[in-house]
Amino acid sequence: MTKDEVRRRLEFYQDLGIKTVYRHSVSVPPTTNNQQLTTVPMPAIPALEPEHDSLLKIIEDIGDCKRCRLHEARNKIVFGSGNEQAKLVFVGEGPGADEDQQGLPFVGRAGQLLTQMIEGTAAKEGIPIKRSDVYICNVVKCRPPENRTPQPDEMEICGQFLYRQLQAIRPKAICVLGGTAAKALLGKDGVTRLRGKWDQWRDIQVMVTYHPSYLLRPYNQNAKKEAWEDLKKVLHYVYD
Ligand code: URA
Repeated sequence: MTKDEVRRRLEFYQDLGIKTVYRHSVSVPPTTNNQQLTTVPMPAIPALEPEHDSLLKIIEDIGDCKRCRLHEARNKIVFGSGNEQAKLVFVGEGPGADEDQQGLPFVGRAGQLLTQMIEGTAAKEGIPIKRSDVYICNVVKCRPPENRTPQPDEMEICGQFLYRQLQAIRPKAICVLGGTAAKALLGKDGVTRLRGKWDQWRDIQVMVTYHPSYLLRPYNQNAKKEAWEDLKKVLHYVYD
């Protein structure tokens, strides 16, 4: 394996939340003088994302997924929607009730606000894009019961498909909506602290902002202004 391949593989594991990597097998030294070196297999770790990946291949690999408990109550897997060659990708947390019914991301109230934010800000800034020009997906593809926050193991399992989606699209920037997506992509907590500043996922620029559901709460009106500012930055960076 070349150095570059090793680096890519380790980055992939790091994205999956795997902090310690073992060799596939280890040689155990003899305990007595006349014993041979013995080779002991180590636990398997996930394969690196395939070369020449595509969204279609990822959907096929997800299949009728039962890899985590979220499959139990879902109606539809919500993979993502929009322009598959988008320069900008939005990443939310996970499907809600409307998304679970329709199999599409951000189609409920939060989704309507997200559409307004994208199209309203773009129109105001003279940037000729619609929601259909960007790509929208979530960290987990199945609705968590009662819209609870996805658990770390669910994020880890489903996260591998998110990373493959992002790597297949390779947008110019990713707009991260809320704390769960920030944790999944940057491994960091605290939207208030992270928002409005550029960060990176692999070599792609990332801007964290508030989740639209948070902005729907009437006492968060100041956050709304901040989210619009964040979006303005992202849209100019990507489309100017
Ligand atoms: N909230 C999300 O995070 N994603 C959706 O698709 C809908 C609501």
